[in-house]
Amino acid sequence: MEKVKIAVLGLGNVGKGVWEIFENNMTEIKNRSGYEIEIGKILVRDTSKNRGLHIPNNILTSDIEEIFADDDIKIIVELMGGINPAKDYIMRAIESKKHVVTANKELVATNGKEIISKARQNGVLFLYEASVAGGIPVIRGIEESLTANKIKEVVGIINGTTNYILTKMAHENLDFATALKEAQEKGYAEADPTADVDAFDAMYKLAILTYLSFKTNVSIDNIYREGITNITSYDIQNAKEFGYTIKLLAIAKEMDGKLELRVHPTMIPSTHPLSNVNDSFNAVFIKGNAVGDLMLYGRGAGSLPTGSAVVADIISILRTNMTVTGSSNVILDMPILPAENSISQYYIRMNVHDQSGVLAQIATIFGANDVSLSSIIQKGKNDNLVSLVFITHKALDGDIKKSIKLLEQLSTVDSIKNVIRVENFDE
Ligand SMILES: NC(=O)c1ccc[n+]([C@@H]2O[C@H](COP(=O)([O-])OP(=O)(O)OC[C@H]3O[C@@H](n4cnc5c(N)ncnc54)[C@H](OP(=O)(O)O)[C@@H]3O)[C@@H](O)[C@H]2O)c1
Repeated sequence: MEKVKIAVLGLGNVGKGVWEIFENNMTEIKNRSGYEIEIGKILVRDTSKNRGLHIPNNILTSDIEEIFADDDIKIIVELMGGINPAKDYIMRAIESKKHVVTANKELVATNGKEIISKARQNGVLFLYEASVAGGIPVIRGIEESLTANKIKEVVGIINGTTNYILTKMAHENLDFATALKEAQEKGYAEADPTADVDAFDAMYKLAILTYLSFKTNVSIDNIYREGITNITSYDIQNAKEFGYTIKLLAIAKEMDGKLELRVHPTMIPSTHPLSNVNDSFNAVFIKGNAVGDLMLYGRGAGSLPTGSAVVADIISILRTNMTVTGSSNVILDMPILPAENSISQYYIRMNVHDQSGVLAQIATIFGANDVSLSSIIQKGKNDNLVSLVFITHKALDGDIKKSIKLLEQLSTVDSIKNVIRVENFDE
């Protein structure tokens, strides 16, 4: 059997998973790839760190030049994270005609266009299955199995940390801070949780899904992004009463030739399959014009699930015998719909003073701004303040924003407590 040498950059969560998969599944990997794979070098910052793995001493290095000096290394697997030096190393690898695998969503989302073009110019493969939804084969699913379809919509729960927090808040009635602390204690959330709770992570993944599903390179500045830090267990309980569950959704939708791209907490019907995606699980729901509705579900992060996608990419490269044949690379670059032109139903919760005529004032402002109301619930009284919850019919985001601004100026309105989009998955 032919031998091939690869190098791995990074031996953290994902790097260790890759090492473990090679240790445990070597026979399957050999049979499926047709190659005997040797991990020749692993780049780390600190070679003296105890990693709890049996790795021969001569494999670990903190010197990238050792890797670039070895012409026998044919595939570089980047698992360090961040933009630089990851991008620099990947570009150098491609220039040296080495194939590249990465799990780095931030890098693919922000620099993917340049890297993919460089890989094509140099006749090497650049694969990144692990960058979206970890172990779930969503990229290969879209790129290979759904190619006969015009994709209309991709909606994902693609951040496990926020899904874990929202599940805990919903099932155990925890507040956001307590649920976040628990997620940190269990290792689901980082000490600095910003990338997850402010939805940067989901935004990067949505940019990649948009490229694959709609052949459109999108700047992350064109993706509307809102995190989950304003969600309270009170809103979650209210949602339940209306028959909804709150999830952080990443949405890419084609609307009359334009793309709507948004990541935000969303109320979805509790009967929809995405509402049953709980804890740190991920799922991607795709609407194709031939296949219909399809949902991929599984572990979106973690050492072994992410490692599974990385090793599958390595095997894919080997299955081509490392010869790249040209394939179509038509880029459509569809226009992006400005966020204020997107249309949704909305949940709006506010505290108002307990005075006669308040409801009429509020209804007048909504009406004057083309926002019609589907339901109104009064949620009890506290210190002369009444909590009101409105669900609107479909309205323009811009009209909702205008209404909120005007409502905030009313002396009878104490405060707007929350505004959450509602997605009913109708046409
Ligand atoms: N964790 C997940 O579940 C998951 C899921 C999907 C995708 N990803 C992506 O996978 C990538 C890796 O994530 P991770 O969680 O495995 O990260 P991690 O645990 O922080 O590990 C990073 C590894 O890279 C090494 N490294 C970082 N900067 C380096 C540098 N400048 N030079 C040499 N080595 C360097 C570190 O070396 P030392 O060990 O010596 O510090 C460490 O071994 C990221 O792009 C992440 O977004 C992760």
